[in-house]
Amino acid sequence: GKVAVLFGGNSAEREVSLSSGKAVLNALLRQGIDAHAIDPKHDDLSKLKASGFDRAFIVLHGRGGEDGTIQGFLDTLQIPYTGSDVSSSAIGMDKAKTKQIWQSCGLPTAAYQIIVKENFEPAQAKDILSALSGTVMVKPVHEGSSLGMAKAETPEQLITALEDAFKFDKKVLLESWITGDEFTVSMLNGKALPAISMKTTHTFYDYQAKYQSTDTQYLCPCGLDDQQLTELNQLAEEAFMAVGCSGWGRVDFMRDQQHNWYLLEVNTVPGMTETSLVPKASKQAGISFDQLVLRILEQTL
Ligand code: DAL
Ligand code: MG
Repeated sequence: GKVAVLFGGNSAEREVSLSSGKAVLNALLRQGIDAHAIDPKHDDLSKLKASGFDRAFIVLHGRGGEDGTIQGFLDTLQIPYTGSDVSSSAIGMDKAKTKQIWQSCGLPTAAYQIIVKENFEPAQAKDILSALSGTVMVKPVHEGSSLGMAKAETPEQLITALEDAFKFDKKVLLESWITGDEFTVSMLNGKALPAISMKTTHTFYDYQAKYQSTDTQYLCPCGLDDQQLTELNQLAEEAFMAVGCSGWGRVDFMRDQQHNWYLLEVNTVPGMTETSLVPKASKQAGISFDQLVLRILEQTL
C-alpha cells in the first residue's frame, strides 16, 4: 500500500523537518516504495485513510508532530506509524517531564529548575543562579534543535536568556551547566547504534553548529573505552525504555570532566538530514541510509 511520509509541519523546526523528510522520501522512492510527501501545514490529514494510505513514516520534528498529537490522530485513523506511541512522544517532547521520569528511575541528569513565564520575577535571577551552582543552560521545555537555548552566568544574562526562551515556550528549563563533552546514542529497534561525540567551537552544540557550521566535528567511533561505552549504551537503553519509547530515536548526553554521565533528553523523531546523527551512527554500524529508512518503516508492519 501507499506510505505517507509526514514532514514539514508547523513547528519552529519546520526547516529541519523539510530536510529530514526529503531525505527519507527519496530513500523510500529509490527502493521502490510507493511513498508520498504529506505536509500537515498544507495537506488535510483527515483524508489519509480515504486516499489509500495504510502506513505513515513520521519525520515531523517538534510540537504538532513529535509530541503525540499526530500519533494520536493516526491511532484514531488506524494507520500504523513509525516510532514512539502517544504517551512516550508527549513525554519526550517535554524536557522537564522526561527528567522527572529519569530521576525517579535513578538515572543521572543535571540539577534543574522549571521557570514559568507568568511567575518569573527578574529579582529572583540571582538566587536561581546560586541554587544551580552559578551557571546554567536555559532551554524552552518543549523545543528542539537547540532553538531558544542559551548559557547564562550572570543575573542579567539569565533575564535576557529567559526572555528569549519565553518566545518559544511559556515553560523554561534551567539546568546546572555541565563542563565537558556532548555524546549521543542513536536507537534502532531497541538497540544502541555506535555512539557519537560532537565537538563544537561554539559555546554549545547550537542550531548553527548542528545544521550550518562546517567546523563541527563528529567522532564515531567516539573514543570511549569498552567499559565506558557499555555504561553509556546501557544508560541510553534504560533512558529510552523509562520514557516508553520504541522503534527508533536518539538519547543525548553530557559527560563532565570527572567522567560522570548526565542525560539531557530523548528525541523521538531525531533529525534525518545530511548532517544528522542517526544516519552517521547507522553508517558506522554498516547500515546505509536507505537500509536505515527501510528498517524504520518495517516497524509499521
Ligand atoms: N530535534 C532535532 C531534529 C534532533 O534531535 O535531531
Ligand atoms: Mg531534541
